[in-house]
Amino acid sequence: MALYDAAAGLLGEALHSQVRLHADYGGVVPELASRDHVRRLLPLVREVLEGAGRRVEDLDLIAFTRGPGLGGALLVGASVAAGLGLALGKPTVGIHHLEGHLLSPLLADPRPAFPFVALLVSGGHTQLMRVDGVGRYALLGETQDDAAGEAFDKTATVLGLEYPGGPALARLAATGDPARHHFPRPMIASADLDFSFSGLKTAVLTRVRELARLDEKARADLAASFQAAVVDVLVAKCVRALEREGLDRLVVAGGVGANAALREALVRATRERGSEAYFPPARLCTDNGAMIAFAAALKYAECAVPSEACAFTVFPRWDLAQAAAAAQSTPLR
Ligand code: KG4
Ligand code: ZN
Repeated sequence: MALYDAAAGLLGEALHSQVRLHADYGGVVPELASRDHVRRLLPLVREVLEGAGRRVEDLDLIAFTRGPGLGGALLVGASVAAGLGLALGKPTVGIHHLEGHLLSPLLADPRPAFPFVALLVSGGHTQLMRVDGVGRYALLGETQDDAAGEAFDKTATVLGLEYPGGPALARLAATGDPARHHFPRPMIASADLDFSFSGLKTAVLTRVRELARLDEKARADLAASFQAAVVDVLVAKCVRALEREGLDRLVVAGGVGANAALREALVRATRERGSEAYFPPARLCTDNGAMIAFAAALKYAECAVPSEACAFTVFPRWDLAQAAAAAQSTPLR
């Protein structure tokens, strides 16, 4: 939940993590997620408004995540937004989750100028996009199977780490030797800008079975070697995307963008070719309300807001590049 002011910037934000709720199950349980959203959303609204010294009547625009995501959780957010909008007589807008991630580096200082190449790396997506402006996105390439975050999470399970695996694996990798095992770099040599990560966890699993003992050091080396393979592929494709598009700004977003080894490698690789890499602050890499409020403020800064007071829709599956193209061909009211 977040409150964003187009002139003053981010006035407040609050996050309720469901990590502990789902940890016992080793992953997200959709019904538990949406029920917890029902309990948490309004207290979070109050917390953010009180923290910023504002009242609910001060809101001009209410944004919610329309998709993609779990249908039940999306519906809770959409209903709270629609209820607030109806009660206050204020417009509501549904924002694409990935558009939130994509624009979040613009919350940082320095702020990248358009156009840029964006690497979106989350638990559900791995995409390279060309971004020419707010709402102007072209897909350059994407994963053919698992997302990068998913590969981190699945490999973490192979290594016996607790949910959520990505950050735990990254912590373990920091103490290991990345050159101890040479795991495949899937599609690194292919001319396209696509990715494939599903084979990597199998490669790690095969190596785990070959090893006689799996002590802390062995697990750390496996984690570091796996992470090095993912980072190598992501870096190579980012550089290729910059070259192909003739651009020199790279923007990184999504949960895996919090990974320190990836950040370091991208900074080095972009600097080597005279380009610049931009990241959102680490806390804004993983899912948050600020990126959704910010995207809505950017998108509707200059145009009238399409009102959808009480009728609302959510899209559990939703393609960003297609949605952006459709929005451009139908001017906003
Ligand atoms: O963007 P996000 O918070 O949620 C989605 O929209 O998916 O991304 C979550 C993903 C998870 O797969 C998580 O394991 C991964 O980001 N992640 C990380 C790190 N922090 C989060 N992966 C590697 N290193 C990290 N430090
Ligand atoms: Zn996300």
